[in-house]
Amino acid sequence: MRLSVNGVEHDLALDPRTTLLDALREHLDLTGAKKGCDHGQCGACTVLLDGRRVNSCLILAIAQQDAQVTTIEGLGSADDLHPVQRGFLDHDGFQCGYCTPGQICSAVGMLDELRQGRPSAVTPAGGEADLLSDAEIRERMSGNLCRCGAYPNMIPAIRQAAGQ
Ligand code: FES
Ligand code: FES
Repeated sequence: MRLSVNGVEHDLALDPRTTLLDALREHLDLTGAKKGCDHGQCGACTVLLDGRRVNSCLILAIAQQDAQVTTIEGLGSADDLHPVQRGFLDHDGFQCGYCTPGQICSAVGMLDELRQGRPSAVTPAGGEADLLSDAEIRERMSGNLCRCGAYPNMIPAIRQAAGQ
């Protein structure tokens, strides 16, 4: 199979049952996306597929040959952080950091959904809302769990990134 990850093409010979998460972590040495539950429940494995956030533990790598995969490693660099990465650093949006790559990828996808006017449980389709309210950010990030409970600082981190 051929996978395009962070702008680089990779040819891989893998069992067709290999998940995208395992392909990234075990075969491409991209260990930013984490395996928390491996059941689609925690969001630690979140990556972007053509800009859309997904749980990579639930997706078969072989089905993504036409997609552009972006992982936390492809969002920014130490010298040039993505605005969401900068926000998490500035606001101390993590403790152990295990969930953080998934939180950041999810926030990037979520801000794009906001820009596209996608509805949420807080803001129905066509509804008027403060799109950067605490409730809105919490709802849209609710698929990403943090066992350290670093949620309060993630909210201003994401709001700062949205402003940029
Ligand atoms: Fe994928 Fe938990 S490891 S959702
Ligand atoms: Fe530890 Fe979220 S920072 S699990």
